[in-house]
Amino acid sequence: MRRPLIAANWKMHLGREEEALGLVRRIRHPLGKIEGVDVVLCPPFTVLALLAEVLGPSRIALGAQNMHWAEQGAHTGEVSPSMLAGLCQYVILGHSERRASGGSTEDDAAINRKVKAAFGGGLIPIVCVGESGEQREAGATDDVVRGQVSCALAELELDQARRCVLAYEPIWAIGSGRPATPAEANRIISLSVRGAVADGFGEEAAQAARVLYGGSVLPDNIETFTAMPEIDGALVGGASLGPEFVELVRRASLR
Ligand code: PGA
Repeated sequence: MRRPLIAANWKMHLGREEEALGLVRRIRHPLGKIEGVDVVLCPPFTVLALLAEVLGPSRIALGAQNMHWAEQGAHTGEVSPSMLAGLCQYVILGHSERRASGGSTEDDAAINRKVKAAFGGGLIPIVCVGESGEQREAGATDDVVRGQVSCALAELELDQARRCVLAYEPIWAIGSGRPATPAEANRIISLSVRGAVADGFGEEAAQAARVLYGGSVLPDNIETFTAMPEIDGALVGGASLGPEFVELVRRASLR
């Protein structure tokens, strides 16, 4: 049985100490009381160390929003797996807002290097995949998503593939107030996300990996997603920036 997971992607918000602390002080105790769901907060780098200290060993885990694959070197503006390893347990990789840069540190091959480096550094990657509106219109969703998953997980060990967290986030649904229907998200996750994991690592690994849905998830719709058999939780942007996030997590725990 896969344990539900709700990951908060703060993006470029709440990166000043007082803002981050303001929210975390409000949500940490109520979140700590909710059983049966893993919670990961992914704040900007600027407050990751602070929140690691404030939360200490707690039921609320932390994640970074990106990472380079190299251990150190001439990579201005980047952080490495070992720099994060003492601060957080997870790292979001390949978010569409980063892939959109088109840069060589955000293509499929780079994301694969980052996924391997994350496991090498003791972090669990949350790998984002998803098609654009145009790709969807063109009927290319399955091809795009399958391709992204198989590239991201290429050459992993079986145990790593099982422990990887994948997030299916159709680009057109992110921040648009127009989520995918739960049935459609469930279908793509089963066919294209778990399908690609099964092709590479076998059906058992495909059933073990946790797969989240992301894109306009709110307290009011989270249960419609977590009610789906293939959806193990959500990657939440806008609705993770305020105290309503507690209600979203509470509803996810009712699964
Ligand atoms: P959203 O963002 O919940 O604001 O749509 C989700 C994401 O980009 O991870």
